[in-house]
Amino acid sequence: MSEAANYSASETLRDGRRVEIRALRPGDRAGLLAAVGRVSTQSLYRRFFAVKRSFSERETDFFLNVDFVDHVALVVVAEENGQPAIVGGGRYIVVEPGRAEVAFAVIDDYQGQGLGAALMRHLATIARATGLEELIAEVLAENAAMLKVFEKSGCPMRTKREADVVHVTLRLAEQG
Ligand SMILES: CC(C)(COP(=O)(O)OP(=O)(O)OC[C@H]1O[C@@H](n2cnc3c(N)ncnc32)[C@H](O)[C@@H]1OP(=O)(O)O)[C@@H](O)C(=O)NCCC(=O)NCCS
Repeated sequence: MSEAANYSASETLRDGRRVEIRALRPGDRAGLLAAVGRVSTQSLYRRFFAVKRSFSERETDFFLNVDFVDHVALVVVAEENGQPAIVGGGRYIVVEPGRAEVAFAVIDDYQGQGLGAALMRHLATIARATGLEELIAEVLAENAAMLKVFEKSGCPMRTKREADVVHVTLRLAEQG
């Protein structure tokens, strides 16, 4: 378990609301499932390439079973009616030495507020600190928001399109 397991940062949305971006915790099961229930069908499709609204216990365990070395997950927590609520998240999974696959989902009400970019920035910081060299992603070609988040990341980017899917490779150059 790396120090990423205790990661926490504060962010301000474009509309001025404050949120916390922090490491996923084992106790987040209910919050994560509640967040999935608030994501639109189109957003779920863009995340999973299928409309997936219910997850088996096994799948849920997989999403929660994060070791913060080969599988790192961050969530965005907003305060809603005085209660913390998960409104988005991003994760990466190491697929081969030096290289991890990244994926994000922000609930629709919170999209376009800079959270995708913030999650990308925090995940890239963690990935760089652990010595990863590249982040890869598979993105539907129509998913302009996700492609824009990658373009804005400042990481050198390569893309390869195959049918409806764009394979994205981001180089995690040292930032000094
Ligand atoms: C992709 C996603 C994570 C981005 O999160 P977000 O919080 O909306 O991202 P941001 O607000 O940081 O940035 C989105 C950018 O895309 C832009 N954008 C959104 N829709 C767009 C469109 N149709 N065409 C062009 N640009 C678009 C926004 O204006 C913004 O750019 P800006 O910062 O220059 O204004 C979010 O939309 C999402 O959860 N989508 C569904 C799941 C998904 O697609 N996951 C990706 C699987 S890898």
